Amino acid sequence: MLPANPAQGSRSAARTLTVRQALREGLARLLADHVPSASLAAELLLMHALERDRTYLYAHGDNKLSAAAGERYFGLIAERLSGKPTQYITGHQEFWGLDFEVTPDVLIPRPETEHLVEAVVERAAASGPAGPARRQIVDVGTGSGCIALALAKELPGAEIYATDISPAALGVAARNATRLGLAGRVQFRETDLLTYFLNPSYEDTFDFVISNPPYVGRDEMGQVQREVREFEPRLAWGGLERGDEVYARLFPEARRVLRPGAFVVVEIGYNMRDRVLAQLGAGWTDADIRPDLAGIPRVVVARKSRP
Ligand SMILES: C[S@@+](CC[C@H](N)C(=O)[O-])C[C@H]1O[C@@H](n2cnc3c(N)ncnc32)[C@H](O)[C@@H]1O
Repeated sequence: MLPANPAQGSRSAARTLTVRQALREGLARLLADHVPSASLAAELLLMHALERDRTYLYAHGDNKLSAAAGERYFGLIAERLSGKPTQYITGHQEFWGLDFEVTPDVLIPRPETEHLVEAVVERAAASGPAGPARRQIVDVGTGSGCIALALAKELPGAEIYATDISPAALGVAARNATRLGLAGRVQFRETDLLTYFLNPSYEDTFDFVISNPPYVGRDEMGQVQREVREFEPRLAWGGLERGDEVYARLFPEARRVLRPGAFVVVEIGYNMRDRVLAQLGAGWTDADIRPDLAGIPRVVVARKSRP
């Protein structure tokens, strides 16, 4: 058994550990601290420390860890125990089957956000084959670029833009485009919501405006996990007064740039359905709510009314 404090003696103790023992010990430390998804975290951190995949961990469980690898692993476990999310330690998060680089400059992509991508892909398919009409899409508040790049993968004929107010986030998104072989498929713009497009050249242009905006209000701050509060960028998750402020600005801007009959698709907070629908107001039709896998209303889709 390793000493409880990884800073003390982890080098000598780790020298004698097998892969399986290290995994068990890492897991035990995470569980003792009630770290969420401890088992997954223990695996991902060991994979990261060894630069190996999951198959290796289970196929070579009896292999001895080198002292350096043991020290690296228990150092990563200590970082996780400090509250730092596993994804910021490994620098990776999967979204829509794609591997995204994540840094503390961007929100860690969440599985529920995949419902936004699904909603767009379904509607794009329903409105006819990609064909000659080149779909124009803009993702507002792109962060890691996860939504825009997933759509670039799914809709090869689409012309896709992505905005963010954070230049650091746009840097991460651009690197993800390159890593995923999608450089040039998404054009990134540093701007406040859709400001860059609010001019006559983009009026009635887009087929989809998509956004997972910051939506945590002051009253929900207490429910935000420590990992989010202390490590994810506040600009990304909110810390707003009510939480739904962004929609009140986004919907009118989206109306200006969408062509009639085109769609706005937004992610919403768990208790926001009625407030967000009320903010849509006149000028929209066919409002639709999609629940996430937990049954929580998560995605609002609406169409810009035709004249
Ligand atoms: C909830 S995160 C979503 C990131 C990514 N789309 C995702 O789903 O993981 C919101 C993003 O919006 C950006 N943002 C916040 N306020 C903005 C604004 N006024 N204009 C443009 N982007 C903004 C943040 O920097 C952050 O990257």
